[in-house]
Amino acid sequence: MNPVVHATIDLLKTYRAEQGDDIGSLFAEDGARFDNFSAKCGDLLLDYSKTAIDQRAKSLLLDVAREAGVEARREDMFAGASINVTEGRAVHHMALRMPSGSEVMIDGQNVMKDVTAVRDAMAAFANGVRCGSVKGGGGVLTDIVNIGIGGSDLGPAMATLALAPYHDGPRVHFVSNIDGADILETLARVDAGTTLFVIASKTFTTQETMTNARTARNWVVEKLGEGAVADHFVALSTALDKTAEFGIRDDRAFGFWDWVGGRYSVWSAIGLSLMLAIGPENFDDFLAGAHAVDEHFCTMPLEENVPVLMALVGIYHRNVCGYDAKAVLPYDNHLARFPAYLQQLDMESNGKGVTFDGEQVDWQTGPIVWGEPGTNGQHAFYQLIHQGTSVIPADFLVAAEANNAIGDHHEKLIANAFAQTEALMRGKSVEHAAEELRKAGKSEAEIERLAPHKAFPGNRPTCTFLYPKLTPHMLGMLIALYEHKVFVQGTIWRINSFDQWGVELGKELAGELLPRILGEGGETRNASTEGLLAAFKSMRNG
Ligand code: F6P
Repeated sequence: MNPVVHATIDLLKTYRAEQGDDIGSLFAEDGARFDNFSAKCGDLLLDYSKTAIDQRAKSLLLDVAREAGVEARREDMFAGASINVTEGRAVHHMALRMPSGSEVMIDGQNVMKDVTAVRDAMAAFANGVRCGSVKGGGGVLTDIVNIGIGGSDLGPAMATLALAPYHDGPRVHFVSNIDGADILETLARVDAGTTLFVIASKTFTTQETMTNARTARNWVVEKLGEGAVADHFVALSTALDKTAEFGIRDDRAFGFWDWVGGRYSVWSAIGLSLMLAIGPENFDDFLAGAHAVDEHFCTMPLEENVPVLMALVGIYHRNVCGYDAKAVLPYDNHLARFPAYLQQLDMESNGKGVTFDGEQVDWQTGPIVWGEPGTNGQHAFYQLIHQGTSVIPADFLVAAEANNAIGDHHEKLIANAFAQTEALMRGKSVEHAAEELRKAGKSEAEIERLAPHKAFPGNRPTCTFLYPKLTPHMLGMLIALYEHKVFVQGTIWRINSFDQWGVELGKELAGELLPRILGEGGETRNASTEGLLAAFKSMRNG
């Protein structure tokens, strides 16, 4: 943080210490609190009134955003400046969801011609597969196997599940783990002659993906012969020289560019499996939803700018209150993989401890992000959120209308979502719990023993995202809102949200250890690893 931002955060801490942070009393003080602490982006409503942020705190937080230069850096990003300073790259996944005919300059070139050409090629190919004119050796392609990991898996996998009600194309399977179980169990479910393998890898070097891709290739060659590779594999990558070496035809290799980060790539060729599932028109709606958020982010004043407000609520919880974690709780079963998707988006982007200038930060950066769909979480980990010793701010995601309406399921789902945010805020005092026990006819001794266990501290902050329905457009909006939230927070924390050096060391050491695992020698490791290697060897040989 720059010194001015640091000072404003200190002011916020002092203000919180003086005022207290009782959320309930803020509603008593401000009859219009819901209106004052909610905002809209298109049809989506963000309610952040159930946090301890009041007018003064909000105004200081908006100062933080201004003082950190969020607006100027946002302009730099959209202007194609190399804001990914450690990799010397522009950051422009927003170009991928711009309407054809727009102009986006990166390194002095309008990239939209290439973006549109790939988008059109993907659509033509997807339409061909979906209508059966693009065939495999065994006829119409009924199954797609997407092989990728990280951003080359989580985006399309999360979105394909999220948009299941719009899925009218071939079945889509996702293989990511290098654990052989993943690819083997998937291969057992498909027929080689009618399966298309989509090898999704920005670099086309990732160990997990290339190992799974080669296993799939060997399987196809064994079943159908070497000649079948051309018809049964496509590649999505920035490394088109490597895809050709693998045996993939030029017209089946869909490219993208180094200004698209892996975890920001679902809008690019990496979205092909999703497009095959839901069709190019729905995919266009998905892009349009994200584009609408880009426009909102660029044009709305900070105080009404939903991704900026999301970011500032997060800054308040992380840097003013010191909360370590953040839960994402979709009351929308199709968003089951959304928390996992956000884990990569948020934690790989903002899990950093060094500033743009290479200095160690002395403030907290990205929180631990986790979650599961409600109401399942209610019967598992909500106990800790309600009564545990850590305060965990949570985002609740709720659709007003179900894609799969039946009976009163959806009304009950919504009642649970709203009830949870209310319970987390209100809590229940020991006196209240005692009164309930008294009414239930318990003895005074029992009341004294049980009341503390039945009390809830309350005052636990939540944000609610309420949207009409989970359509392709709304999913595009939701993802883009979180993308820009991550950008704003990274700007305030002065960290580069677009590199991921923290994943490299483990990869390096795995490379060094493989020869030892294979029994081919190599360097001696520390005593623990040597112990594990010896135990592994004896288990394998014994
Ligand atoms: O190891 C992390 C990472 O680089 C992610 O950032 C990326 O999404 C993933 O690996 C997959 O990389 P690729 O698409 O190059 O295979």
